[in-house]
Amino acid sequence: MTPDLRAQFPSLRLRPNHQRLAFLDTAASALKPQTVIDAHSAVLAGPYANIHRGLYHNSAATTAAYEAARAQLGAFFGLPAGAERSLIFTRNTTEAINLVAHSWAKIPAVAARLKQGSAIVISALEHHANIVPWQMLAAATGAEIRVIPLAADRQSLDLSNLESLFQGAAILALSQMSNVLGVRPPLEEIVPMAKQLGVTVVMDGSQAAVHGAINLPELAALGVDFWACTGHKLYGPTGVGVLWGRPELLEAMPPYQGGGDMIDEVKLPHGTTFAAPPARFEAGTPAIAEGIALGAAVQWMQGLGWGNIQAHEEAMAALLTNTLAELDFIEIYSPPHTGITAFNITSAHPADVATLLDQQGVAVRSGHHCAMPLMKCLDLPNGCLRASVGVYTCAEDLAQLREGLIKAKKLLG
Ligand SMILES: Cc1ncc(COP(=O)(O)O)c(C=O)c1O
Repeated sequence: MTPDLRAQFPSLRLRPNHQRLAFLDTAASALKPQTVIDAHSAVLAGPYANIHRGLYHNSAATTAAYEAARAQLGAFFGLPAGAERSLIFTRNTTEAINLVAHSWAKIPAVAARLKQGSAIVISALEHHANIVPWQMLAAATGAEIRVIPLAADRQSLDLSNLESLFQGAAILALSQMSNVLGVRPPLEEIVPMAKQLGVTVVMDGSQAAVHGAINLPELAALGVDFWACTGHKLYGPTGVGVLWGRPELLEAMPPYQGGGDMIDEVKLPHGTTFAAPPARFEAGTPAIAEGIALGAAVQWMQGLGWGNIQAHEEAMAALLTNTLAELDFIEIYSPPHTGITAFNITSAHPADVATLLDQQGVAVRSGHHCAMPLMKCLDLPNGCLRASVGVYTCAEDLAQLREGLIKAKKLLG
């Protein structure tokens, strides 16, 4: 990527603690390019109105822009024109997964199955967003939670018991890329087996969507039934995310929330009927400007090209691994070159190191990374540090991380 690209990110010009900013926390949320900021303000400053309601010009124009963003996202995720109706705008991945856990579980045939003796399978790599909604569903139905464990290398999943984990299970909820270790579970080994055993598959694409092309028809052919991602990691605004679902499943699912925009006809005292998907799952006024700006974000990414993005990120991921590997006081938990690297200074508390790095302008994440069970498997009671790369990461950022860590080590002893 060129210096021009960095110039598109106003946040990179800021000098926290009077230092050059080395932003290495894209896995938590990506910085926003000017195009996205402009698209967001253009909605608010332009012919703004609520959508799907007014007959007047500005409402129709804003509705068209919002639905165009849905189509842009559909194309970005490989859906043929028209199939974007199976994309639901949510607040984020968390809401998308809660929506599935709530509404899919109420399909009568699923509800009859989800009871004591059945199971919900997750993996040891999951973010809390892909754990807690399933625990809540398990508590409500009596189904048990089964966990695909971490392998002995503590960097991959142990698939040796997969078949028995899937026996009698109703659903598998799996991350496409870990937000802590950066690893990608081998979907070809896991998903078809789940499918064969009649297990519905929900995939958390929050991290994977940022670093490579997602093709939803291909994932569907593999056996994925639902797929979720969050807009703010995709260089888009906060407050908007996406859930894709197999059309026939969405069609069979009852609403998640009730209110305006999701109805067909409201009757008193009862008898209200609901709109077809996606509207059925989009109650109330949505994040209009954010949805439109997310469309602009994925168009901007398409403009960069996946080939360029991946070549750049692979180079930065390798540099990140090498930078850390050269420091003999660092323990690395991620496999090499994943671009999301978990590590610690041996025997130092990650929060102390992160604070010292911050004083030197280096932004990394520290703590449990919303993955407490994984921290437990890794035997890291204080959690760890995590550095992650994005399209704007450059060699200077990693040199600054290196200097920052050397200084932190000196200070912490
Ligand atoms: C793998 C993964 N899943 C889910 C989430 C939750 O995303 P959000 O907080 O935007 O819902 C994150 C965010 O860090 C994530 O990395």
